[in-house]
Amino acid sequence: MALSVSRILLCVAAFTAHVNAVELTSLVNLFIGTETGANGGSGGNAFPGAAIPHAMAKVGIDVSTAPRQAGYIHDNSSITGISLMHDEGTGGTPTEATGYSHSLRAAGADAAQPGYFTTTFTNNIKLETTSTRRAGLIRFTYPTAGPNHVVIDLTNDLQRSFEGGSIAVTPTGNVQLGGTFLQSYGPSNYTVFGCYDFLPPTNVQSQPITAFGTYQSASLTSPSTIKITANSTSLDFPWTSDNVSPEQAGALISFNSKTVLARFGVSFLSSEQACANAEAEVPDWDFDNVQSASADAWENVLSRVAVDTTIEDATVIELLYSSLYRASLVPANLTDENPYWESPYPFYDAFFCSWDTFRTVHPLLSILDPVEWGGIVSAYVDGWRHSGFIPECRSNTKAGYVQGGDDGMIPLGDFAVKYGSRATELGVPIDDLYQALVDTAENTPPDWYTVGRQNTAWKTFGYIPTDWVDPSGATGLPTREASRAWEYALGDFAVRQAAIALKKDPADVVKYSNRSMNFVNMWDPNVTSDGFSGFAQRRYPNGTFAFSPPNACSPVDPVSHSCARGTDNDVGFYESSSWEYSFFAPHSMATLVGLMGGPDTFVARVDHYFAEPYFLAGNEPGFLVPWAYHYANRPDLTALRVRNVVYDNFNTGIGGIPGNDDSGAMAALLTFHLLGLYPVAASKQLLIGSPLLSTASIRQGLSPTPPAGASVFVKSITINGKPSASLCWIDFDDVVGGGSIEIEVYGDADAAAAAGCGEGPNALPDSLETGGFPA
Ligand SMILES: *[C@@H]1O[C@H](CO)[C@@H](O)[C@H](O)[C@H]1NC(C)=O
Ligand SMILES: *[C@@H]1O[C@H](CO)[C@@H](O)[C@H](O)[C@H]1NC(C)=O
Ligand SMILES: *[C@@H]1O[C@H](CO)[C@@H](O)[C@H](O)[C@H]1NC(C)=O
Ligand SMILES: *[C@@H]1O[C@H](CO)[C@@H](O)[C@H](O)[C@H]1NC(C)=O
Ligand SMILES: *[C@@H]1O[C@H](CO)[C@@H](O)[C@H](O)[C@H]1NC(C)=O
Ligand SMILES: *[C@@H]1O[C@H](CO)[C@@H](O)[C@H](O)[C@H]1NC(C)=O
Ligand SMILES: *[C@@H]1O[C@H](CO)[C@@H](O)[C@H](O)[C@H]1NC(C)=O
Repeated sequence: MALSVSRILLCVAAFTAHVNAVELTSLVNLFIGTETGANGGSGGNAFPGAAIPHAMAKVGIDVSTAPRQAGYIHDNSSITGISLMHDEGTGGTPTEATGYSHSLRAAGADAAQPGYFTTTFTNNIKLETTSTRRAGLIRFTYPTAGPNHVVIDLTNDLQRSFEGGSIAVTPTGNVQLGGTFLQSYGPSNYTVFGCYDFLPPTNVQSQPITAFGTYQSASLTSPSTIKITANSTSLDFPWTSDNVSPEQAGALISFNSKTVLARFGVSFLSSEQACANAEAEVPDWDFDNVQSASADAWENVLSRVAVDTTIEDATVIELLYSSLYRASLVPANLTDENPYWESPYPFYDAFFCSWDTFRTVHPLLSILDPVEWGGIVSAYVDGWRHSGFIPECRSNTKAGYVQGGDDGMIPLGDFAVKYGSRATELGVPIDDLYQALVDTAENTPPDWYTVGRQNTAWKTFGYIPTDWVDPSGATGLPTREASRAWEYALGDFAVRQAAIALKKDPADVVKYSNRSMNFVNMWDPNVTSDGFSGFAQRRYPNGTFAFSPPNACSPVDPVSHSCARGTDNDVGFYESSSWEYSFFAPHSMATLVGLMGGPDTFVARVDHYFAEPYFLAGNEPGFLVPWAYHYANRPDLTALRVRNVVYDNFNTGIGGIPGNDDSGAMAALLTFHLLGLYPVAASKQLLIGSPLLSTASIRQGLSPTPPAGASVFVKSITINGKPSASLCWIDFDDVVGGGSIEIEVYGDADAAAAAGCGEGPNALPDSLETGGFPA
């Protein structure tokens, strides 16, 4: 069926109620992205368990398949336990499943919806769980009245990194535990606490405890060595860095009851606080109440994008609401759970990592949930207040590794631009935010491997030199020089944008405008690849470029290179190639169009990048490139390319995410693609493309290319009744300010190519070099 709809209503007054009465939570598929090793990578690593939006508690099952960074894999592997906290979509240390406790799931028994997860084992024990921010309930239903048993495992985190801790159990079924474990992506360890209660009020349930005790064993492989001590009330293992002993330890409780209800709480402060969190958040032990409160919280989040579910394509709707769901799991609101400092500000965590989330997660929050975003931004600022630098990759309360720049700078600049004038209302101390940006742009921490940037080098050279010993004594992992420099440039642009928005010293605007253009200092015009000239490259302190093949670390790299952080990375780019990073200057794309030889060569080069493909759909550095045609005045090519990217890489299956979901970065990207928008970092510009909603061509399901003549090209944009001067971008305030944006689409490819972004002087999206982003 060809497209018949010619007008798309993008947004109506302030995201009001749903267009129709479908429960949006019923449209979410939690199992998208839960295949292991999908798409040649480690899979989507999506977390399909129970959680409320931005929760600390993310409770779900862990399985034996590896890798399984979010605990869960949608296969027939055995379940090794239920864990109370998980990450969403992250990479990090691949983990092996060991330990004694393995139960098989019955075929097809896993089911989930926002706020609820269930499965049934082959021995017919059913498990259900639901949760609040820091607490929740787990219900076991056994085939017989008992005695039935529950094991509370102290030592097995996903990566088996237990370094010590303790567990205490009372005859009335209160279990308190705490342990120290290694981060999955960082140099440090963290300590976390839990509390379980197995004595529900009798009006809720009676489940007599018939026995309890503790168990321990130093052997992982031989269950016969396990020592069970009936009536034992505690085990205590002093902290040890060698995490060898004990391999297995915990508590056991037996019940004479066909169903067993467990209430849990988690905390980073103490096990007493974990118990208090459970009591405060789940006082009445009512499973249905907790579940429906969680579903309501999700309905509220999902309803911020309203579509007419009766006319849109069912697959697109499932992708849209499943993506909105995953994009709202983290960052996690850990307010009142900060173990390090007292603060009147919110405490958020699972910034894992800002390198992943600055491109799409934060911009999506900026549109859909400014209140939550204000809390998150305030927590970034509070991180600076107590460490001197904006956090980059904080998880489980500890700083992880810095991947590129200190990319927490970009959401902070973005906030200043979008909400600087309403910062007080959103709880963000805006002068502190600006100081956090300046300090992070100017100062160099002693070790810039876990926070901050190598500003000594950046300020001395205007690039990040290869093989340079910093005379200041500051150290860090000196690899990824080229890609770090390109990210530092964007970070400086964020400071520049904040300086303008907040009316700071004009000298700051000049200074950071200038520094944000320094990415050109790592551009070697003499490198050629496949007939294209000029590529981002590493550079020595004496100014000479250090050559890396531009296709190194691309999906078609003919030789194997190391592309991670480690010292074996001799390419200079992080998780991406020079071919890809050479398109990364969101704030001055016109500069790249010029450096690459003008619009025609630029378009040919973007085409070639996709044809080869140097495009890596499953990782963040590739997010922007499908939209790059806009900057060569060819939005028609963007429209086609974005559709292909969506059709070729995303679907509603368990392998439906092309790479790690990365704390919702992929989910937020897909949301923007479906809405036909792409956010320009630290600015109010949104590139506008061709929405996949209200288009009839996709009613037949996803096909590789839109049929010839399909109405996918933007003909006109009308904002509150007035024609927009540009066909390529709209302003943030138009999107969030109420009113309507109507996009007229047509199928005339030749006319669309000729029309480009339109006639007006500002029709092209902004670039700093050509006078864009005016002060
Ligand atoms: C899981 O399924 C695979 C493929 O069908 C099969 O080979 C394997 O034996 C199954 N594993 C279990 C534990 O049932
Ligand atoms: C690990 O935990 C121990 C005990 O809490 C602590 O002394 C040590 O400093 C921690 N190590 C790191 C790297 O954080
Ligand atoms: C544990 O305590 C219960 C209740 O006091 C008692 O009946 C039982 O014998 C004890 N078990 C052991 C192994 O000491
Ligand atoms: C974060 O959690 C705290 C404590 O429950 C709550 O007061 C606050 O409103 C939450 N933040 C947001 C933005 O919802
Ligand atoms: C930035 O400032 C330096 C020093 O004043 C100057 O040499 C350079 O041309 C400026 N760069 C840009 C892009 O304006
Ligand atoms: C590029 O090559 C030309 C000719 O060999 C040389 O003069 C110039 O210095 C080179 N430029 C750079 C940046 O290396
Ligand atoms: C610059 O330094 C590099 C690395 O030490 C060296 O190979 C190169 O020859 C130097 N270039 C000049 C012009 O001295």
